[in-house]
Amino acid sequence: MNKQVIAEKPANNKVKSMVSIGASSCGIAAGAEEVYKTFADEIKKAGLDVELKKCGCLGMCSAEPLVEVAIPGKPSVIYGKVTKEIAARITADHLVKGLVLKENVFEINKGKQLKIVLRNCGVIDPESIDEYISREGYDALNKAITQMTPEAAIEELKKSGLRGRGGAGFPTWMKWSLTRASKGEIKYIICNGDEGDPGAYMDRSVLEGDPHSVLEGLIIGGFCAGASQGFFYIRAEYPLAIDRIQKAIDQAYARGFLGKNILGSKFSFDVEIRLGAGAFVCGEETSLIASIEGESGRPRQRPPYPSERGLWGKPTMINNVETLANIPVIFLRGGDWFAEIGTEKSKGTKVFAVTGKVKDSGLVEVPMGTTIREIVFDICGGIAGKKKIKAVQTGGPSGGVIPENHLDTPVDYDNLQKLGSIMGSGGMIVMDETDCMVDISKFYLGFCVDESCGKCAPCKIGGYQMLKILEKISEGKGQLSDLELLKNLCQTMQKTSFCGLGQTASNPVLSTLRYFESEYKEHIEEKKCRSHKCSGLLNYRIVEEKCKLCGLCQKNCPTEAVEGSRDKGYKIIKSKCIKCGRCYDVCRFDAVHKG
Ligand SMILES: Cc1cc2nc3c(=O)[nH]c(=O)nc-3n(C[C@H](O)[C@H](O)[C@H](O)COP(=O)(O)O)c2cc1C
Ligand code: SF4
Ligand code: SF4
Repeated sequence: MNKQVIAEKPANNKVKSMVSIGASSCGIAAGAEEVYKTFADEIKKAGLDVELKKCGCLGMCSAEPLVEVAIPGKPSVIYGKVTKEIAARITADHLVKGLVLKENVFEINKGKQLKIVLRNCGVIDPESIDEYISREGYDALNKAITQMTPEAAIEELKKSGLRGRGGAGFPTWMKWSLTRASKGEIKYIICNGDEGDPGAYMDRSVLEGDPHSVLEGLIIGGFCAGASQGFFYIRAEYPLAIDRIQKAIDQAYARGFLGKNILGSKFSFDVEIRLGAGAFVCGEETSLIASIEGESGRPRQRPPYPSERGLWGKPTMINNVETLANIPVIFLRGGDWFAEIGTEKSKGTKVFAVTGKVKDSGLVEVPMGTTIREIVFDICGGIAGKKKIKAVQTGGPSGGVIPENHLDTPVDYDNLQKLGSIMGSGGMIVMDETDCMVDISKFYLGFCVDESCGKCAPCKIGGYQMLKILEKISEGKGQLSDLELLKNLCQTMQKTSFCGLGQTASNPVLSTLRYFESEYKEHIEEKKCRSHKCSGLLNYRIVEEKCKLCGLCQKNCPTEAVEGSRDKGYKIIKSKCIKCGRCYDVCRFDAVHKG
């Protein structure tokens, strides 16, 4: 089987030309609806017989709205940053005359990508079950429930080697098998669509761009576990994802993929959506269960694990969105096919949301084992501007930073863990020289302190104390002994916190200390922040030799800290300066020194 087959878009065999507009949240925010309307009007005006459709995220969010034009017999063309005006020109030139608008073409680097999870995102209309079915949709469900026993299906999944994409990387087949083996007539399966990590939006994009694939994975999971009821737990801040999943559920009921005796089998299965209020801790499986039960979203003692005693005390299987989106493909192509992709212990692909100081930010899906450097430079175009890359953060608040000299590490669960980070759910934030590592660890720890549910002291009090120490260091008031104290607190939190939030909250602090301890020491001993991020350590002064006496800094200073005149020259009064940096930003002669 050619692995690339699934990555390719289908040739446009339709007789009609087709215009597809990326209309996920990112596309809509950039103006996709307006662009859609313009195309609709212009195509009508020109009297063209062109199929116009909205699809999911095409990948490169920084170039939204993205539009793909496919004319039968010709290679399809993707346009980026499409405005109303460009949409009108595409209609007049490309659709009518066949002339490509070269300056607006956006090259999506597909070379190193392999799209399994994102196979339909940006290709099909997510609100059309017929388009999903035309791409082998629900064939895997049919195969599983009409040709396989649940045990045989779990064996097939075992062959694939799929591990959970929600963070912990637990073998998916084992979770399914444990839930199946648990005693009880009533069992549940939950799709975890909480996605609370800052910088992560992979799950949202899959829910918005290809809702049926996640639903199909959930139904197959229900069949294998012996569950009769499934839930989507999605945060309320994801209205488009919720809307599209609800439409997918309704359509699946209407076609007999949900409900009683699915496809004429003995298997009956229902699905409902539950909304989360947007608390990070509710992504942790026992908190998520409490939240669905109507309790406040706080973690519960494990064991017993949810596979034994979960929702309303019944055996419950919880899987991440991306995990479930892999399932239909595994059953269609076979476990062995899937296991050929990736590394020895991490099979398949991983979707990353690459953001930060990178040129082309967006969603990429690569085989496990692709290096971080390949993701950042070959796929995402490298660093924006002329700065140098400093580190890449993976795994969100539970992860850590990976410095430049480790960028050739092949990405998989074990390699990232060895480096002191984790795969997490797939957020990847690229950092350059202007990012300060003390500031980064302050940001992630601050997030966990805000999101701590307050149930246990190590997380509630330990996290807060650590944050105070980091703040002290960033203000130039730290001592060297603080570094040891930080390390001790990190270890205590890891060992004694009740749930994963507190157990992993110190990872960003530990990893920045591991690779960038000298930067911490600079803040403490030299009272210097080399990245100029820690405002407490910043001083602004006017360099007399460079100053052209234009007076712009004085006009723009909100606290009248710039004193002087065109005749006498200007200087910044330290006691009045609030370090907002306005003077530095407005000076056109590089005469304000920051340091
Ligand atoms: C604080 C915290 C937040 C989490 N957030 C999520 C989340 O948003 N989505 C998710 O799938 N898993 C999240 N997890 C992991 C889940 O608890 C669980 O392991 C996962 O949903 C299992 O699915 P998987 O085996 O398919 O990965 C979180 C864990 C912790 C400790
Ligand atoms: S570690 Fe403790 S306080 Fe922190 S979120 Fe978990 S249970 Fe709540
Ligand atoms: S803006 Fe720059 S050049 Fe103008 S007065 Fe201020 S320091 Fe001098």
